Amino acid sequence: MVLVLGSKGMLGSELVRQLKAKGIEVAAFDSDLDVRDKEVLQTKVQELKPEVIYNCVAYNAVDLAEEEKEKATSLNVSAVSNIVQAANSIGATLVHFSTGFVFDGQSTKSYTESDQPNPQSVYAQTKYQGEVEALKCPKSYVIRLNLLFGKSAASDNAKKSFPELVLELAKDQKEFAFVTDEISTPTYALDLAKATLELVDAKYPYGIYHLPNEGQASWLDFAEEVFRIKGVEVKLNPVKGDVFKRPAKRPKNSVIANTKFPKLRPWQQALQEFLSSN
Ligand SMILES: NC(=O)c1ccc[n+]([C@@H]2O[C@H](COP(=O)([O-])OP(=O)(O)OC[C@H]3O[C@@H](n4cnc5c(N)ncnc54)[C@H](OP(=O)(O)O)[C@@H]3O)[C@@H](O)[C@H]2O)c1
Repeated sequence: MVLVLGSKGMLGSELVRQLKAKGIEVAAFDSDLDVRDKEVLQTKVQELKPEVIYNCVAYNAVDLAEEEKEKATSLNVSAVSNIVQAANSIGATLVHFSTGFVFDGQSTKSYTESDQPNPQSVYAQTKYQGEVEALKCPKSYVIRLNLLFGKSAASDNAKKSFPELVLELAKDQKEFAFVTDEISTPTYALDLAKATLELVDAKYPYGIYHLPNEGQASWLDFAEEVFRIKGVEVKLNPVKGDVFKRPAKRPKNSVIANTKFPKLRPWQQALQEFLSSN
């Protein structure tokens, strides 16, 4: 049996779906098992004795984290430490997720799994510290991704992912400005979950993995492809990131290269499938 934490999030709900489809017994918890509560978590893990713990809980509000450092730290760092201790107490494998934002974005090349992070915002610092905690579990996978898109999460506070958000906006708005000087790697939750389960199933060596879809995109590229696929006509204006006054610094380049696992399909193909399934 396996345990999924953050099971109502975008990635968590996709993992639960796929695990169940494979006939694997899943214990799934979201805010009903507060990962910040070390004792409660430890008791639950001792009781269930999962072979694998998938941690999909995170604080993901990149800008808000600048003023909510404590909250971001408690979910992205302290809770990970609680999960590691619980996993280690029963010898479980831990699968933890992180972001290409841990890099400073100064490189002109894509970042590989062995490149040194240099986080530039509170969100990125907490995600990096979370990676360091997760790797204290001797049987851990830290999987980095960017720009997650897919079916909306089932949780009460669920945000829409970028494609749905821009399509919703385009119902009333016919002109948009999107950033062109921040390049990243869109990641389809369905493909990421599938690759994650293959990674664990095939017993790849523990450590850091990059599992985005192949290719890269600016926000403008991403939006342009969404509108092209859906045949929505809007005017798109390219702008530099510094036009928007956002509290958190973003890396100009957070493109992460997958050099350790079979490559996922290009993000455009994944997006096409996602948008035609909606
Ligand atoms: N989304 C992205 O673009 C992106 C980019 C890079 C990396 N990632 C990483 O990918 C992973 C999955 O992200 P996601 O977008 O799927 O996250 P998500 O949709 O925000 O899901 C997180 C889930 O955790 C739950 N949660 C919050 N606090 C909790 C607590 N104290 N105890 C237990 N559960 C709690 C949330 O419930 P509530 O909604 O009720 O609070 C939510 O259902 C994370 O590690 C994230 O950092 C995501």
